[in-house]
Amino acid sequence: MRILSVVGARPQFVKLAPIARAMPADTEHLIAHTGQHYDHNMSDAFFTDLGIPHPDFNLGVGSGKHGEQTGAMLAGLEKIIEDTAPDWVLVYGDTNSTLAAAVAAVKLHVPIAHLEAGLRSFNRRMPEEHNRVLTDHAADLLLAPTRVAMDHLAAEGLAERSVLVGDVMTDVLYQVRDQVAGSPLRLDAAVEPGGYYVATLHRPDNTDDPERLRAIVDGIAKVGKPVVLLAHPRLRALAERHGIELNTGSISVSEPVGYPQLVNAVVHSAGVITDSGGLQKEAFLLRVPCTTLRPETEWVETVDLGWNVLVNKDFSTLPATVERPRPAETDAAPYGTGRAAETAVRALLDRG
Ligand code: UD1
Repeated sequence: MRILSVVGARPQFVKLAPIARAMPADTEHLIAHTGQHYDHNMSDAFFTDLGIPHPDFNLGVGSGKHGEQTGAMLAGLEKIIEDTAPDWVLVYGDTNSTLAAAVAAVKLHVPIAHLEAGLRSFNRRMPEEHNRVLTDHAADLLLAPTRVAMDHLAAEGLAERSVLVGDVMTDVLYQVRDQVAGSPLRLDAAVEPGGYYVATLHRPDNTDDPERLRAIVDGIAKVGKPVVLLAHPRLRALAERHGIELNTGSISVSEPVGYPQLVNAVVHSAGVITDSGGLQKEAFLLRVPCTTLRPETEWVETVDLGWNVLVNKDFSTLPATVERPRPAETDAAPYGTGRAAETAVRALLDRG
């Protein structure tokens, strides 16, 4: 069997790592990288750190407006799918790379499997929400990470194509957590273990409106311990364009870090402030309190269990929310036990 994985953006490299490892030796696994993310620390570092095989194809599409970027990927992927004639095109998550691969494959009548199917924010302002809804409806096999995701798929009439496999990011996280366990804090910022917060911010709804971005930065700057802000290129570019200084108050701006270093930074932190989907869940799995700068989350279990609090409007409340006491401990495992990739690959091979 030949499986073509299509990835392009940072969280997809993380999801690809355990899938690539779980592929049996007699399965031909090809990897196409769209080039949506191209900076070393947004792309290559993940392949190296997580031991992912070098991509067989790289379209080098780079940045652009949604239509321009997605269209360039669609044209490039069509050719790759025609040339390689895979039994499955496997797409990951909810980025423009996911949607481009799904559209390219469905037009060529090649079966599509969608990993991380069924997540919904019900917020149609998010490009990720368009991408995931359209991809789920184009796909032949929906590999869902949670029961809640399975329920969303059933509500949209997709139950028959859906399989609950668990969350593959949990697989990687547990492996990397065990690798970095006991290692000292590895951050360039002058901070002490337990004496700082980790922050990331990249969603267009938070970065693109200068007033909102300024209010978020002001709120974070007043938090009572240093905040290491791992600044995504989108955030840096927009802050500069809006004339907003990120290095202010408690905030100490750093470059984005590789995955093992991120896990190390979160493990040693007092908490996380983010708008990233993956990081909310990683904080929960590492039992670090998280504050999420969004009106809603796809990972509702993190909120229900008390480890994640959403802040969307009054960012002057951020210090009090971020510095809240730790919630009650829990041994709930809504994201599986760290074996989701094996289950996902088995589902693909069984239906090939
Ligand atoms: C994309 C995904 C988002 C995911 C995120 C993870 C979409 C619609 N969004 O958002 O779901 O959570 O990746 O990071 O697919 N840039 C660089 N170098 C890079 C990558 C990006 O400079 O290596 C800059 C460019 O200025 C670019 C901007 O960041 O215009 C945004 O990049 P893009 O890939 O369009 O979206 P992300 O915000 O990264």
